[in-house]
Parts: sequence; structure tokens; C-alpha cells
Amino acid sequence: MHNIAIDGPAGAGKSTIAKEVAKKLDFIYVDTGAMYRAMALYFLRQGIAAEEEEKIAAACDDVQVSIAYEGGEQQVLLGEENVNDFIRTEEVSMMTSNISKYAAVREKLLHLQRELAATQNVVMDGRDIGTCVLPHADVKIYLTASAAERARRRYKELIDRGGDCDLDQIEKDIIARDEQDMNRKISPLCQAADAVFVDSSNLTIEQVVAEIIGIYGEKTY
Ligand code: DC
Repeated sequence: MHNIAIDGPAGAGKSTIAKEVAKKLDFIYVDTGAMYRAMALYFLRQGIAAEEEEKIAAACDDVQVSIAYEGGEQQVLLGEENVNDFIRTEEVSMMTSNISKYAAVREKLLHLQRELAATQNVVMDGRDIGTCVLPHADVKIYLTASAAERARRRYKELIDRGGDCDLDQIEKDIIARDEQDMNRKISPLCQAADAVFVDSSNLTIEQVVAEIIGIYGEKTY
């Protein structure tokens, strides 16, 4: 199986790029952030607070997260329910960052992610794919962009979806989430030693996609 790992902070463009690379190579795109988001949604619905680690660890035994594909788009399921439409709010984003530091949460999803990559060619994006989930991936990319640029992209995405939001607040939330994701004890966001660093601040989607396909080609042929 061939695996491409793309890690980086919030809003760096990982999912857009990973989806495009997957399409071009005919691989499956796996959005691991969506899996963590589904777990966070479950805990929120259960009325469990982010600080209640024991309750969260216990609830991990009950929660069932899986993914399916509809029209080529990843859908994340909580039990039988497709929760794709509920996992992108700011509340869920922050809860996700808060609960993704717990060992029980990470272990639960690690198995699922490795299983997917063992049975299919995948482009997988997240925070710890190159460093922890798929240490032997064919290609590892650390994709980032300036916080201001990432906030602008997120703002545009929310406005395009008809939302109402504040650019400064988005930038603050992004910085807070990065801080937390980079400084947690277990599997923090960091560049794997053998990952290629790509700053997308001044690159188009097409340029980044072409670079990754080029690196993949060099490594595998
Ligand atoms: O990629 P995203 O913004 O959807 O991820 C949401 C949160 O999930 C992110 O703030 C940290 C966590 N996450 C993680 O800890 N490990 C991953 N592999 C993917 C996401």
C-alpha cells in the first residue's frame, strides 16, 4: 500500500490539498481531524466537559466512529448517524483540540487510521500522521502558512457558507488551537524529521498539489 501523510496547523489547506492529491493519484482521502471532531461532538452531546478526562476515557469505550464515502466525499459516522454537518462549528473545533490531548481518545482513533492505511492507498491528513500514525509513509509533508493567511482562508470559507464571523476572532482561535495542538504531551503537532516543509502562504493549490505529486513520483518510481 502507498501512503501520503500531510500534517500541519489549522487552516493550512491540508484537506483541500490532500483531497486533490488523492483524486489525482486515485487514492482514498482520509481526514483524521473529522474523526476527532466526531468524538468531540459525542462528548458535547453527552454533556461531558473537556476537563473530565476520566469520563471521556470511559465514554471512549462506547463511542463508535467510522467513515464512509459518498460521491467521493468522506462522511464521518457516529454509530449509524452521519455527523458531517455538525462537526465544523467553532465550539466543536475547540472541544476537539481540548479532547485530542487524551491518550484514550488518541488510541481509539489510531487503530482505525492505521487499519485504513494498511488496506488502501491513502492520503491522510492530521497533526501526527507522519510522526505517529504512519511513520513509514512514502511521502510526508508538513504544510503550513502564516496565521494571518490561515485565518483569512477560514474566514472566506465561513462567509461563503453564509456564516457571519469576525476575522480577528478567527485568527485568535486558530492561534490558541495551534498552541494547544503543538504543546500537548501525546503526539503533538510537529514536523517529522523526514517530512518536506511546505509554506503555502504564497502558493496556489495547484502549485502545492504539483509539488506533492512530484515528491511522490520521485520517491516511488
Ligand atoms: O484538522 P482539523 O482542524 O479538523 O482538526 C481538529 C482538531 O483535531 C485539531 O485541533 C487537533 C485534532 N487532531 C489531532 O489531534 N490529530 C489529528 N491527526 C487530527 C486532528
